[in-house]
Amino acid sequence: MKEILLLGDVHANYPALKAIGASLQLDRFDRIINTGDLTVYSTFPNETIDWFRNLEDKAIVILGNTDKRVIKILKGKKLKKPKKKEKRVMYFWTSDNLSTENSTYLKSLPKKSELLINDLRIGVFHGSLDDPNAQLFPSTPDSRFIELAKNSPYSVHIMGHSHVPFHKVVAGVHFINPGSVGRMFDGDPRTSFAILKIISGEIVVEHFRIPYPVEDVVKGLNKNRLPDIYCRMFLTGKKLN
Ligand SMILES: [Fe+2]
Repeated sequence: MKEILLLGDVHANYPALKAIGASLQLDRFDRIINTGDLTVYSTFPNETIDWFRNLEDKAIVILGNTDKRVIKILKGKKLKKPKKKEKRVMYFWTSDNLSTENSTYLKSLPKKSELLINDLRIGVFHGSLDDPNAQLFPSTPDSRFIELAKNSPYSVHIMGHSHVPFHKVVAGVHFINPGSVGRMFDGDPRTSFAILKIISGEIVVEHFRIPYPVEDVVKGLNKNRLPDIYCRMFLTGKKLN
């Protein structure tokens, strides 16, 4: 049996990531996958990146859209989006506070990745195989999943970005989103992750929600005098607007 821990959309929420790490025996996993968006919206980007860097070769980490915006700022480019001041402040705070080593690491990440386990080709994407900004939900029409399956060399797609956990099999291809470690939108602030098991070629996916100390995220935001809307976002587990 092979076991893979599926994580994504941590958004610098290290208290949530730490709670997942503490609840599991990480040594048992053959790989630990991260579907992108390591940074922005909480104040622990360095602790978050360090956690994945410490896993060395065991970790497969890709870039998300928020990470790309941080890289833009780090490279001295103009940030067009987001437009709202209270959203922009989180991107600039992140780029100002990332260590040199972690900035270099972030810039080195690929937009997508893949792995082969027991003849099973697994693709890792932020949005989807064909678009890093695509939002896929359990309610997305099957025709969209069929289109992705048709054009795919992978029998398993691991994706993030929509922050909605799901597992569905369409046209023989498994589509899995572990949800968001750091920023769920469904009104339940608990952290979300999934475990993928490959047992004699069979794929089994389990989704989990566990509590974590949200107050530590709030403390970090207050200490750095960041907008109060983010405290509310983390406490309620709801999207900003
Ligand atoms: Fe995200």
